[in-house]
Amino acid sequence: MNQSPQPLNFLEVLAQTKTSVWPFIQKYLVQSLQFPEFCQIDPKYQPELDFHQQIISDYPTRQGKYLRPTLVVNTALSMGESLEKVIPVAAAMQLSEEWILIHDDIEDDSLERRGAPTLHRQIGKELALNAGDSLHVIMWKMIFDYQNPKITEEFYQLLNRTTFGQTIDINWTKTNKTDLTDEDVLLILESKTCYYTISGPMRLGAIVAGASVDQLNQIYLFGRYLGRAFQIIDDVLDLTSDFSGLKKQPFNDLYEGKRTIILSHLLRTASPSEKKEIIEILSKTRDQKSEVEVNRIFSLITQYHSLDYAKELAQQFATQAKKILSDDLGFIKVEPYRHQLEMAIDFIINRQH
Ligand code: IPE
Ligand code: MG
Ligand code: MG
Ligand code: MG
Repeated sequence: MNQSPQPLNFLEVLAQTKTSVWPFIQKYLVQSLQFPEFCQIDPKYQPELDFHQQIISDYPTRQGKYLRPTLVVNTALSMGESLEKVIPVAAAMQLSEEWILIHDDIEDDSLERRGAPTLHRQIGKELALNAGDSLHVIMWKMIFDYQNPKITEEFYQLLNRTTFGQTIDINWTKTNKTDLTDEDVLLILESKTCYYTISGPMRLGAIVAGASVDQLNQIYLFGRYLGRAFQIIDDVLDLTSDFSGLKKQPFNDLYEGKRTIILSHLLRTASPSEKKEIIEILSKTRDQKSEVEVNRIFSLITQYHSLDYAKELAQQFATQAKKILSDDLGFIKVEPYRHQLEMAIDFIINRQH
């Protein structure tokens, strides 16, 4: 299997990954409803099977950016590995995103995902949670079928660290933590974004290609910086982008009370009375916050240049990531895949949604 023709930009690289990875995901989704002989379902329950199929396929068919599986594939290929060998790992990585995001949208009570209402807003929390569980199980089936203990261990480590990150993220919002340092925010990012979004996928690709522990450690450091840049830009976009008209509710993260670099900057630069005002608004649930209150926080963010601060920080982290790529990741070398990873950095920094 060859990747051809050569993509011109990173969006085409992402599209190529979808083309090669999606059929593998689809195969496992379909197979999950083919129960073994001893526990067959009576054909009269076909409508129930169809409904289950529909709810578990919902997020997978919406297809996100496919950034994570692209990092898996490109790292493996740039270390001389074949596409066939890495596809199941890239597919499991993508499937992890599908169940994590279903659950994350319930945890954050988000309204939209990938341009449509979130699953729990469509079918209710009970069914959405269960659809997430189902995808979680299918993901582990994919991983076990791959039969590489190092890959299984890496999935365990990265998902384990991600759920820790989710705990702090959710708990600091829930308890309205406002003595928030950048270091605190970076701990959230390192746990749920740097590893999960950048270094985990790249390490998985590298493990498939037989990387050494030292090489895997270098990749982790690279991901720490690029992951920080990725999440900070994600948080900036939440306040500045309408996602090409796909986003219906602006300022989702402010309604959610999410702990971001932008918020930590605002909380330490605003005057004491403004800080008090912000904390009071943040203490309310999503539904209790009025548009006027959320707009008030945004106008303070603008007044104190918290977005500029965050953007500048993201640029610094991206620059550090680029330096690690050029100084320490020389083993990621096969072209055009290395170049495509460089394109990934620029894509992350410059994306509009
Ligand atoms: C997403 O976290 C869940 C992960 C662990 C990746 P967020 O809650 O920060 O992400 P969005 O903004 O809903 O996509
Ligand atoms: Mg969320
Ligand atoms: Mg979340
Ligand atoms: Mg976001």
